[in-house]
Amino acid sequence: MAPRFLRRWAGAAAAGVRRALAGALLDFKSLPARLRDPARRAEPWAFIHNVGDGDFVAVGAQLLRNLRDHAGLAANDRVLDIGCGNGRVAEQLAPFLKDGGSYVGFDISKAGIQACRRRFRRRAHMRFEHLDVWNGEYNETGKVAEADTVFPAADGSIDLAFATSVFTHMRMPAVRRYLAKSARVLRPGGRLAFTAFALEPDRMSSEIFDFQPFDETSLIIDARYPERAIGHWRSALEAAIAQAGLRIEGLWNGAWAPPAQYDGGQDLYVVVKA
Ligand SMILES: C[S@@+](CC[C@H](N)C(=O)[O-])C[C@H]1O[C@@H](n2cnc3c(N)ncnc32)[C@H](O)[C@@H]1O
Repeated sequence: MAPRFLRRWAGAAAAGVRRALAGALLDFKSLPARLRDPARRAEPWAFIHNVGDGDFVAVGAQLLRNLRDHAGLAANDRVLDIGCGNGRVAEQLAPFLKDGGSYVGFDISKAGIQACRRRFRRRAHMRFEHLDVWNGEYNETGKVAEADTVFPAADGSIDLAFATSVFTHMRMPAVRRYLAKSARVLRPGGRLAFTAFALEPDRMSSEIFDFQPFDETSLIIDARYPERAIGHWRSALEAAIAQAGLRIEGLWNGAWAPPAQYDGGQDLYVVVKA
């Protein structure tokens, strides 16, 4: 844990600087492991694009397991990774996808996409796209509004779309649009798996996250930077899912507010296009 004065300073800094500083601390902590294990030396640096705490390989493997066990991910799926970050899930999907399976990942972080393109340059079935979309936490200078994002996939072309720890940084109007855009690129019967903080009156705070009121659909943890972490009322999320023409197949509560119903930190929704 960083000293208190550093955490205070980091909390007050502009979002990009704060995340880079927090990323540098994560990199510092991971140095001994990187030095011990040559296989870990090529892992992305968090100061370049910080997608949060946790081991790059272990968290990626956990996310892949959840997609397989709860969202029916198959090796020959055509998948879309919404907000792919620095390729944590892509790293696991690269050897998993076979027999026509393919991957498209997009993110609003140029550094994250550049790192992915370098890392996966020999994987012909994997494509990465950068979109200069605004987000208060991850791209404060983005030129395109989140609502106007154009997903880099043709209508009806995707078997499984997923967004891990992405809607937890987006306001509700943008989440609604992303759900509708996901529905458009999914084939009939295709699935979308996404994580969220699905708040309910008796489940809106925990030891990890102390959510405070923001607007009628959502709560946040930091009034200076709403996108740092956003929880949405479960009722609002589920209305948006239905409005997008999607049907809920499953919801599992995550460990952020125990008891957890699956092996993941945030709540997991799996929805299907009728
Ligand atoms: C906590 S990270 C998670 C990254 C990745 N999904 C993972 O699980 O490793 C959140 C990611 O969402 C991306 N992001 C934020 N807003 C976005 C938006 N409107 N569209 C696409 N990606 C977005 C950020 O740039 C960041 O890479």
